[in-house]
Amino acid sequence: MCGIIGYTGRDNAKDIMLDALELLEYRGYDSAGIALLGEDGTQIMKRAGRVNDLRNLCEEKKPVGNCGIGHTRWATHGGVCDENAHPHRFGKITLIHNGIIENYRELTEKYELEGKLVSETDSEVVAAVLEHFYSGDPYSAIRRTVLKIKGTFALAIMFDDQPGKIFAVRNVSPIVAAATKDGAILSSDVAAIVPFTTDYFVMPEFHVVCLSPGNIEMFDLSGDKAEIEWLKVDWDVSRSSKGGYPFFMEKEIMEQPQVIGETIYPRMKEGIPDFSKEEIPDHILADCKRICVIACGTAMHAGLVGKSLIQAIIGIHVDVVMASEFMYNDPVVDKNTLVIAISQSGETIDTLEALKFARKCGSPSISIVNVKGASIARASEYVIYTSAGPEIAVASTKAYTTQLAVLYLLTARMAMARKLWSKQELSEYMKELSRVPEVMAKVLEKKEEIHRLAGSILNAKDVFMIGRGLDYSILLEGSLKLKEVSYIHSEAYASGELKHGTIALITEDTPVVAVVTQDKLKSKELSNIREVQSRGARVLLLIKENEKLEDDGRFANVFRLPVMADTFMVMPASIVLQLIAYFVSLDKGLDVDKPRNLAKVVTVE
Ligand code: F6R
Repeated sequence: MCGIIGYTGRDNAKDIMLDALELLEYRGYDSAGIALLGEDGTQIMKRAGRVNDLRNLCEEKKPVGNCGIGHTRWATHGGVCDENAHPHRFGKITLIHNGIIENYRELTEKYELEGKLVSETDSEVVAAVLEHFYSGDPYSAIRRTVLKIKGTFALAIMFDDQPGKIFAVRNVSPIVAAATKDGAILSSDVAAIVPFTTDYFVMPEFHVVCLSPGNIEMFDLSGDKAEIEWLKVDWDVSRSSKGGYPFFMEKEIMEQPQVIGETIYPRMKEGIPDFSKEEIPDHILADCKRICVIACGTAMHAGLVGKSLIQAIIGIHVDVVMASEFMYNDPVVDKNTLVIAISQSGETIDTLEALKFARKCGSPSISIVNVKGASIARASEYVIYTSAGPEIAVASTKAYTTQLAVLYLLTARMAMARKLWSKQELSEYMKELSRVPEVMAKVLEKKEEIHRLAGSILNAKDVFMIGRGLDYSILLEGSLKLKEVSYIHSEAYASGELKHGTIALITEDTPVVAVVTQDKLKSKELSNIREVQSRGARVLLLIKENEKLEDDGRFANVFRLPVMADTFMVMPASIVLQLIAYFVSLDKGLDVDKPRNLAKVVTVE
């Protein structure tokens, strides 16, 4: 959702802002704007539309200044129009905002702002409250404003009479900041900072940061100076470029063997799953009576695979809860429930709020997060970082499979902690897990074959995906992938459930993708496939390459998957589903990396 950038230094802030806003486009947005504070005062350029439209506006107006803030907006309060785009200005204050101010109506009334605001946004109200409290001391105005506003916010603020300075404060919504060669920079994302430096820090909540050229200072809300905790970007910076691929999504799919290796191998010590670096004590894995996985979208689908693994191997009950629904179902979590929060960005607000609630109930917690220092990582007791590197395409691919990889490792450590396995069982499982990168690479070698298969659903209006057990779990993800990047309506169904209603939708025009990778479910899955074929459906089947099919002529298309133990077959099968979605989107000529209406980081409830 909204992206934030701020720069002060010797360079022309306009170009830095515009380039950074392009890097933030992946978050999803509908308007963009910048404000520059220079010798000519504050100039604001903003527009509904793409960053390129803003670039054209700036070409025309040529604003100048060495200090600036910039924003990509994903509309929440107020429609998509130039007035509602950020930055917003009131009196001497210019600001950009990510988040939602819940009490903006009360504030409008209290500070008599009716008729004085030019936009319909909650953000402009904050600018007005800041102006109300500002009498030359930015820290005091910010502190007093923060005490009045309720909601989530990442604010970057410029004061007309504080040249060269950008102030920032946040609650929930993230801000990272860094020093550049002769200036300072802040952003909602590390990706926008990486072109300048690999050293950065995550702003703690309710602290005020002031950036000026060559200086960064941070204070808590009582005005005491606070220590900055520096972090280092630990992924290769080339990961944030397309590296010759037409879209990030393809590049990220292709990176999977490598990033899965980077996620699992450092956590295997002499063939044993090892979380000593994360300091996760075995008792937390051994003592819990049940597990509750909290996540959204793709991350929740990873949780569903985790549920199958843990229930089968450990034999304890696992709930996988959509974080956005968690609070509305009177959640039953306690000190005996291990909560696992899964999130690529680490900033999904629903997941964060659910995790905080569970912790208040006394649940021990582990988060599986891709972005270092993210809010969910900080809010949980223990964190396991996936090593997917930056995921720029909105549709999650490598983050999903690295989350699965962590869940495989965690399950093995849990089995060990509970003394459920013999040495031999552990060793066989770990050997198979360490083969995953090599097996995934084999699937990727068949990319062109998968491209041809994707052609069979290119013109479909609706697609059904059917399977049972683990196959069903990954089809939920495969179906989400297809929907979001190709805009084809697609549903994943547990194949045994079809005849309870949905089979009525199957006609001769309906492509069906079926996945059959689990020996124990094979005969039932094949019968279900026969049922849809009898209604004329054209079936694309994904099945192990060593599986004999008596009458494979009846399948429109068959893709043969390299063989692993059944528990691990989701890994090669997932890649095929990702590539199918990718190629359908590509061949439809869509903007694969930035599907309409979607945001990469979902920071509003
Ligand atoms: C779909 C996708 C989303 C995210 C979901 C949670 O491709 O990426 O469904 O998985 O928005 O986001 P994170 O993992 O950042 O919490």
